[in-house]
Amino acid sequence: MPRLDEAQLAVGRAFDALAARLNQLPKPGLLGRLFSRGAALPKGLYVWGHVGRGKTMLMDSFFASVQGLPKRRVHFNGFMQEVHAARARLKSDDVIGDIADGIARDTKLLCLDEMQVTDIADAMILGRLFEALLARGVVLVTTSNQPPDGLYKDGLNRQLFLPFIARLKEALEVVHLGEGPDYRLGRIAARHTYVTPLGPAADAALDALWSDLTDGVGGEAMEITILGRSLHVPRAAHGCARFSFSDLCEKPLAAPDYLALAQNFSTVFIDHLPVLKASERNEAKRLILLIDTLYDAGTRLVVSAAAAPEALCPAGPHRLEFLRTASRLREMQSQSWWQKAA
Ligand SMILES: Nc1ncnc2c1ncn2[C@@H]1O[C@H](COP(=O)(O)OP(=O)(O)O)[C@@H](O)[C@H]1O
Ligand SMILES: [Mg+2]
Repeated sequence: MPRLDEAQLAVGRAFDALAARLNQLPKPGLLGRLFSRGAALPKGLYVWGHVGRGKTMLMDSFFASVQGLPKRRVHFNGFMQEVHAARARLKSDDVIGDIADGIARDTKLLCLDEMQVTDIADAMILGRLFEALLARGVVLVTTSNQPPDGLYKDGLNRQLFLPFIARLKEALEVVHLGEGPDYRLGRIAARHTYVTPLGPAADAALDALWSDLTDGVGGEAMEITILGRSLHVPRAAHGCARFSFSDLCEKPLAAPDYLALAQNFSTVFIDHLPVLKASERNEAKRLILLIDTLYDAGTRLVVSAAAAPEALCPAGPHRLEFLRTASRLREMQSQSWWQKAA
């Protein structure tokens, strides 16, 4: 591990204390019984902080240091997709209980990276699911960009979600990975995040930025569900999502899709912004809405484009409105935007 800053050291101590307690637990055999009674289990951790602060790194190092205990580390979104798939598959009066049984059978430490709740389907089952896991003696550790009180913010029927937040704060120790550098940002400082013109060099520049911002993991396709529909994300990793212009603006996407994007990702990559023709009104309208939404959410943006922002929409009914978009596209390339964006 690299040399840790002060805030990281404090969080590292909380992780070490939990690892020590987990490592002291009686080993399997005894363990099974102990866990099934839920006795003497340490509280799990909820670690939150800004992107690039080292949450995933610290959790992974903690995860590796826990020995002799069935453990699992998974991305929160992937975990919830498994849960929804199991819900669709299982037929019983207590589907959540059955899912929790299945998890608890071979996982006593469950680490969920990048917890974020934007989908009502997740929001409505998380309370019961966590309760069922805790009751079965599963120790939960999660990382998130938000404090518990910020989860599912502005979500539909949020009042139904509030008991879960209260329970989360009671059941897990909430630790803030506070002020300090965004280490990922350090790596891309002074690089262009608006790359023009299009071509192999631009593609390679975006690939390199993608690799730096996702720690070289490549990423995988995923689906986000929005009001019962599904938005396909061609590549996602470490809070970053990558699309082409046609994925986002040539398909019939609308405001809720763009909002879900902004809520789910701290950084959005868009390959191949073209110069729009006067006839491409819907595309222009969507691009304006997309950039407005990402701008309002403080999202970081990396794009490759055929021309400078001011030249992307030279004609057509949205030409004047696009001036604001162009100005936002410029602002979103600035160092200060990247520093403050979350
Ligand atoms: N103290 C540090 N010094 C140098 N690099 C660091 C430090 N802490 C974290 N990093 C690196 O910064 C990047 C972001 O860390 P990560 O754990 O992914 O952040 P988060 O999960 O909070 O977004 C990783 O590549 C990590 O190895
Ligand atoms: Mg992370």
